[in-house]
Amino acid sequence: MKFFLDTANLDEIRQGVSFGVIDGITTNPTLVAKEKRPFREHVIEICNIVKNGEVSAEVVATDTAGILRQAREIATWHPNVIVKVPTIPDGVRALSVLSKEGIRVNMTLVFSAPQALLVAKAGAYFVSPFLGRLDDIASDGLVLLREIMDIYKAYNYPTQVLAASLRHPLHVVSAARMGAHIGTMPYKVFEQLFKHPLTDRGLEGFLKDWEKARETLGDVFEPAPARNPTR
Ligand code: G3P
Repeated sequence: MKFFLDTANLDEIRQGVSFGVIDGITTNPTLVAKEKRPFREHVIEICNIVKNGEVSAEVVATDTAGILRQAREIATWHPNVIVKVPTIPDGVRALSVLSKEGIRVNMTLVFSAPQALLVAKAGAYFVSPFLGRLDDIASDGLVLLREIMDIYKAYNYPTQVLAASLRHPLHVVSAARMGAHIGTMPYKVFEQLFKHPLTDRGLEGFLKDWEKARETLGDVFEPAPARNPTR
């Protein structure tokens, strides 16, 4: 499964990319608005940080003509930009046109299997079911993901399933078990994936034992080079 970070924060993106396991970024108007920077420049900067990764940037128009105009503009910003469009009737109409023009579209705010079926038929590049927001209203987001995976498999739709609104590591694991192509998660959830108390406790024990026997072990490793204080 590909890992995307669901953030527009450059520090989080740089930090995430440093691990070498981040395949792309998703943003939405709320996340971009938090950064208080010009939209176009910000998206291009994100693309340059994630290098070969795909970066979703969302339109804010809600009528077909406006969505088409904004989507065509966003698509020129960088070769790795994926245009995000809301799954409303005007959005699906725009998607049908954009997909024929070769513009890759991430259909967002998907909350039902019929919506996912519609966007696959209209040529979506990604479909983004929001798991956490369904859980928030006491509906099971993972049930929706299962339905989408089954339907897409039955018809071999090329649309990639991007599990979104992931709120905790178990969402990530469940999405991976179902074969979702991508999971997008906030930086906090990404950090949680690393954690296990037994890893920390185990390492602490290993290092304590090593120190206790230090003098008998020889100088195997070169000491770390001193840092240059002027840099
Ligand atoms: O970016 C779309 C989606 O992942 C939003 O997640 O946590 O705001 O429901 P959340």
